[in-house]
Amino acid sequence: MIEKSQITNLLKTKIFGHTVFTFESITSTNTFAKQLQNNEAPHGTIVITEEQTAGRGRLQRNWVSPAGQNLLFSIVLYPDFGMEKISLLPFAGSLAVVDAIETITGLSSTCKWPNDVLINGKKVCGMLLESSLGNSIQEKIVLGIGLNVNQEEFSEELRFKASSLQIESGMVINRITLLQKILEELENRYEQLSYFPAQRLLNDWRMKALLFGKKITVLESEFSFTATAIDVAEDGSLIIETDDGRKRNIFAGDVSLAYN
Ligand code: BTN
Repeated sequence: MIEKSQITNLLKTKIFGHTVFTFESITSTNTFAKQLQNNEAPHGTIVITEEQTAGRGRLQRNWVSPAGQNLLFSIVLYPDFGMEKISLLPFAGSLAVVDAIETITGLSSTCKWPNDVLINGKKVCGMLLESSLGNSIQEKIVLGIGLNVNQEEFSEELRFKASSLQIESGMVINRITLLQKILEELENRYEQLSYFPAQRLLNDWRMKALLFGKKITVLESEFSFTATAIDVAEDGSLIIETDDGRKRNIFAGDVSLAYN
């Protein structure tokens, strides 16, 4: 099991990761983090586990990860900014993950709207942003991150869509060093979002984004259609142009390259 001291030793953040809850196995780090009282989980608290028995993904999907190989954690935040910036936290998270992956492994990765990180077109990381009022009027935000680090195999179904840092680099990656770097980068990105206009973060995200100008398949509830990805808007929605030439924004859902 990852020990708290392994994370806090040599951690270079000001606040993030100073309070840590670690588990061998838990239902979901997001569920646990949401249930914590605000006074036991200060800003920047992380909840990390080796295994989740009910890991959750976006769009009511499951997040399945073999025990002890990957990074499964959530960070608790009490943002000092409004909802429009809160919805951009997953963009801050994916940039933090992209930059940390590059520093620790040398691998270059890209961001796929809304909050996936891909290497060579395969997903290595996903994020789930949730909020809870808990016991206080102060809104608690939980950003859950699932990053495939040292997973060596994926199911038949996922093999062509998902990968891990070990598979892509051919090296076993030190999960603690990687986590510490992610926390550092995330703290910087959080400050960027807090102190500067949202466009600054979004411009950085655009530079790492994968789909702009490309034909994509949009999956919205049960419906899917093709369109061209144009840009990301200030509220985090995806601007697309439909095949009949109309521009519209997608707020939730999933997108993939239409032709691989
Ligand atoms: C997605 O891509 O659908 C989001 C996946 C988010 C998974 C992480 S793993 C840690 C945290 N706890 C959860 O139950 N989910 C998130």
